[in-house]
Amino acid sequence: MPSIASQALTDGGFGRRIAVDDGAAFVAAMEAAPERLPAALGEGHGLLVLTGLHAISDDPDLLVRLSRPFGKEVENYSLTTPRLNLVHTEIPQIFIVSNMPPMNFAPPERPDPPTTANGGLPLQFPHRRGWHTDQSFRRPPPDISLFYAVTPAPPGQGQTLYADGVAAYDTLPPALKARVENLQGLHVAPYRGYGEDSVLAGETPKPLDPRDGPQPQPVVRVHPETGKKALYLCEREQMDWVRGPFVGMEPGPHGDGARLLYEIMAHYTQPRFVYAHEWEAGDMVIYDNRSTIHTATWFDAEHHGRLMWRTTVWGNPGPLYEGEKRSWDAA
Ligand SMILES: [Fe+2]
Repeated sequence: MPSIASQALTDGGFGRRIAVDDGAAFVAAMEAAPERLPAALGEGHGLLVLTGLHAISDDPDLLVRLSRPFGKEVENYSLTTPRLNLVHTEIPQIFIVSNMPPMNFAPPERPDPPTTANGGLPLQFPHRRGWHTDQSFRRPPPDISLFYAVTPAPPGQGQTLYADGVAAYDTLPPALKARVENLQGLHVAPYRGYGEDSVLAGETPKPLDPRDGPQPQPVVRVHPETGKKALYLCEREQMDWVRGPFVGMEPGPHGDGARLLYEIMAHYTQPRFVYAHEWEAGDMVIYDNRSTIHTATWFDAEHHGRLMWRTTVWGNPGPLYEGEKRSWDAA
């Protein structure tokens, strides 16, 4: 069996890295010992980087096989999204993130200014925007995402940033911790006119499909496997800025809810809690949506075609969601 010795990614203990030299053999070994990768993910507070998995690019089913140890169900996107141009034609569990046709996903804009004062990559909100946890506008929300680079952006571009929600919760000042303890965020699918910028611009929100939310979610989530508490919220496009961002607080981008969200997000995304992944072909990042947030960075999409594959694993959201009918099943 290939060794899965892992290295810590940050000084704060967030993330683990495993170097793989034979992707197909590695996947078979992980199927034979299905507890090992989830254990490594837990050790890294919900972030695990695997390198050298090039075999997946030639045999995409390996990505689905590697996803299965993480939970009951690997989402079949052909049943859950109307945007079939984003679904892999042979393996419907693979969601394609790419700026190339027919996906045509534009990368986010550059932060303003494009670097920090000392020339670094901006990490912290609100200089860095777009922080979210995948599909939080669904109840129950997903557990784990596996994100794989077939063709990454050029070096120094198109990084993915991850923030540690467990460490962020643990270090909240006591007064802030008390304010968020029983609070609920109101999450909505992006680009329907409910995001912060749309509301500020006075746009008329579009009618929502029931699969798009809005859905309330606890700001403090207890992880069903580790028992640890983590901050759980998004900003900008994935919160409902018409009725939220928080249930029971003054709504809108100028309200008390907005002020609190800015305060929590700036805390959550401090550089000491953030890992920036510089992608190489064959890399995979596995992240736990129950206890981390992430965001994408700009790349030169006019001159470079980036191709990434993602799977999503569902099935263990915790007792809070027990017995709920899924909001995101097609009607
Ligand atoms: Fe995402």
